[in-house]
Amino acid sequence: MSELSSRIAVVTGASAGIGEAIARDLSAAGAMLVLNARRRDRLDALARELGGPGRVAVVAGDAADDDVIRAMLDAARDRFGGNGSGGGGSPREADLVVVNAGRGLRGSVYDSDPTQWEQVIRINLLGAARLMRAAAERMAGPVPVVRGGPVPAAPPCPPPDWLDRPRDIVVLGSTVGRHISPFSSMYGSAKAGAHMLAESLRRLMAPRGVRVTLLEPGIVRSEFQGAAGYDPESFGKFMESIAPVLAPRDVARVVRFVVGQPAGVHINDVMMRPTRQEYP
Ligand SMILES: NC(=O)c1ccc[n+]([C@@H]2O[C@H](COP(=O)([O-])OP(=O)(O)OC[C@H]3O[C@@H](n4cnc5c(N)ncnc54)[C@H](OP(=O)(O)O)[C@@H]3O)[C@@H](O)[C@H]2O)c1
Repeated sequence: MSELSSRIAVVTGASAGIGEAIARDLSAAGAMLVLNARRRDRLDALARELGGPGRVAVVAGDAADDDVIRAMLDAARDRFGGNGSGGGGSPREADLVVVNAGRGLRGSVYDSDPTQWEQVIRINLLGAARLMRAAAERMAGPVPVVRGGPVPAAPPCPPPDWLDRPRDIVVLGSTVGRHISPFSSMYGSAKAGAHMLAESLRRLMAPRGVRVTLLEPGIVRSEFQGAAGYDPESFGKFMESIAPVLAPRDVARVVRFVVGQPAGVHINDVMMRPTRQEYP
């Protein structure tokens, strides 16, 4: 039996770069997959390559949209959740959600393109928050109504099967979300927010047996640099000056290592850079 063969995974931003590499790696480790991104043709091709409808479902659309998020999680349950294996006669929900879809933006609050700001905040921060919330609710039950203060009255318990069945939410942050960079500060501020959401969700979910992991890569060569509007010549020279930069498969290998730990072990937060990247 492969190491992740019992897992039902959802990966956003799976049509390119890091998300595609994570999807390939999780599939190789035996997980069943729901793939999301906006470019359906690419997802369909990847799904065919990874085993077709029996192992991979595609939900194309904007990962910041509530309906798309619901459709991804429903597809995970309805296509791969079986009957009754989720307890109480109900199918299992997704137990591995990778919050990866995102985009960069060259520049600071002073010199970045302000027409891009809303999209950058929408996918990197609001979309990530919506998916984190929906995934947590599927894994740990309905969001509790808290009255009279931020601390729940009684400590929550994990589900009875939690040690046999790990549950993971993996959030793609960035070194730029932790180390202030004037060259990428609108994007960095969205990632800093995602960092806070991930760690605060970890604190709420830990007693419930759900691992929320923040993964903060440095420079990874992908379509990211083009989408962010980096100048190919000068950024290309910079990447050569610290070569080799990370490849998407390097990040995927770390995700597989983190989620492959026994359910009682959680690697909370990973920062990884190309060895020769000193900053950010
Ligand atoms: N590359 C880096 O240096 C680096 C470093 C640190 C962190 N990260 C983070 O890692 C994640 C993946 O980046 P990457 O390097 O793999 O970039 P990439 O190669 O540009 O891939 C981005 C992926 O996100 C998808 N996407 C973008 N907006 C979306 C939306 N609104 N709804 C659904 N999917 C969307 C894209 O697909 P479609 O266009 O088909 O929708 C694509 O599959 C991002 O969160 C990024 O911020 C990247």
